[in-house]
Amino acid sequence: MPTDRRPEFFKGAQLKVGIMGCGYVGLPLALRFAEAGHRVTGFDTDPDKVRMLNAGKSYIEHIQQTKIQQYVNSRHFGATTDFEKLKEVDAIIICVPTPLNEYREPDLSYVEDTAKAIQPNLQRGQLVVLESTTYPGTTEELLLPILEKSGWKCPIASGPTNENVPGDFFLAFSPEREDPGNKQFGLAQIPKVVGGVNPPSGRAAQALYAQVVSRVVPVSSTRAAEMAKLLENIFRCVNIALVNELKLLCLRMGVDVWEVIEAASSKPFGFMPFYPGPGLGGHCIPVDPFYLSWKAREYDFATRFIELAGEVNTGMPYHVVDSLAEALNQHKKSLKGSKVLILGVAYKKDVDDLRESPTLKIMEILKKRGAEFDYNDPYFPQLHKMRHYDYSDMKSVPLNAETLAKYDAVLIATDHTGYDYAAIVDAAKLVVDTRNATRRVLRHRDKIVPC
Ligand SMILES: NC(=O)c1ccc[n+]([C@@H]2O[C@H](COP(=O)([O-])OP(=O)(O)OC[C@H]3O[C@@H](n4cnc5c(N)ncnc54)[C@H](O)[C@@H]3O)[C@@H](O)[C@H]2O)c1
Repeated sequence: MPTDRRPEFFKGAQLKVGIMGCGYVGLPLALRFAEAGHRVTGFDTDPDKVRMLNAGKSYIEHIQQTKIQQYVNSRHFGATTDFEKLKEVDAIIICVPTPLNEYREPDLSYVEDTAKAIQPNLQRGQLVVLESTTYPGTTEELLLPILEKSGWKCPIASGPTNENVPGDFFLAFSPEREDPGNKQFGLAQIPKVVGGVNPPSGRAAQALYAQVVSRVVPVSSTRAAEMAKLLENIFRCVNIALVNELKLLCLRMGVDVWEVIEAASSKPFGFMPFYPGPGLGGHCIPVDPFYLSWKAREYDFATRFIELAGEVNTGMPYHVVDSLAEALNQHKKSLKGSKVLILGVAYKKDVDDLRESPTLKIMEILKKRGAEFDYNDPYFPQLHKMRHYDYSDMKSVPLNAETLAKYDAVLIATDHTGYDYAAIVDAAKLVVDTRNATRRVLRHRDKIVPC
């Protein structure tokens, strides 16, 4: 690597880009860099994923196999578990998981392990960018000290006097904003916030990302970029909690919350619709806010909105099961011993992602309360062992009139587009709908219980 590499270098064509973590975030990013003509190496600790990628296969439903094949064949993309190859790349982008541990505290072990894997291979002039969602301070307080053990330095600096502060490598944070399954906004259309540990690092990362996204939004520090991502997700989490709470009130008052949201959405300014559901799901919204509330404690600060939203949202799966029990009660049946078919394990419609899905929690509560249950989900023919749950013995049951009629109740947990809701209501004895999926069904409305 040249010793005098300038940030402008990253405006260049045919860069060598290493992506650490080829998951929901890393893989699309890798393919986008390949599409822009760069040589991309995906680094992952999972040898099965690496094998599949190099064979041109996809393990994420919405990522086309043909795209992977195309870039593997043109040698713009390949994957490896050999981290020594990090030495050969110009830029390293870290997209590894940032979950919560069993005490709902940040688990930064993946970021830490990644930093430790980069450190012995770090080269002068390389750019390292963290994309994993995390609390403000992670890049400077966790990543930087590990990388600097290499002997190379990247000083923390800001302001006009530090525009050209010298450093051995560049370090930045740029949060990922992917929305799985969103056909309107793909990676290339979504603006990217970028903050550097110092101004040259910021400029280097801006130059790199400007090649693959429509707009780069520079901020003055890695902390601002880290906080911006958390603000986006906390905004969603708090608003979903608000609408979930209002739903509970509307149900009690006999008001249709969906009609209310639609009416309020006609306001052309100052309102944005959020929709109630069976609970929070997905990798980000149920997890990320707690990164900030944890960090806030270091500053003797209580993040009350986050805690309150968490309380409301975590209560939703319990509300769903209570509503189901009440609906069965109206049919002179107890929840214990009743047969329930759950539609949808994915955390939202039309995705093959069940991380933190509220359905998993609903299943746990149903089991504790003695209900018998099966599920159907076209995206999950069978379930596997997860961090908190083990439903590895469960398979999606076929969805037809004969099967539907066997259950005491059908619970719509995820409103996949492919479901024929009219046919489901026709065949089922009772339908508990957490998503307003049956709004257009005209027949047998007496069987439908909004929840
Ligand atoms: N999925 C989303 O929609 C989304 C959206 C925005 C932000 N994020 C954030 O992006 C980050 C990554 O999330 P994801 O959904 O892509 O996770 P993921 O679990 O889909 O993928 C992570 C990948 O990293 C690999 N990995 C783990 N440890 C590694 C290591 N030490 N070195 C190399 N590879 C390693 C795993 O094998 C896996 O393939 C998280 O911080 C998440 O919060 C995710």
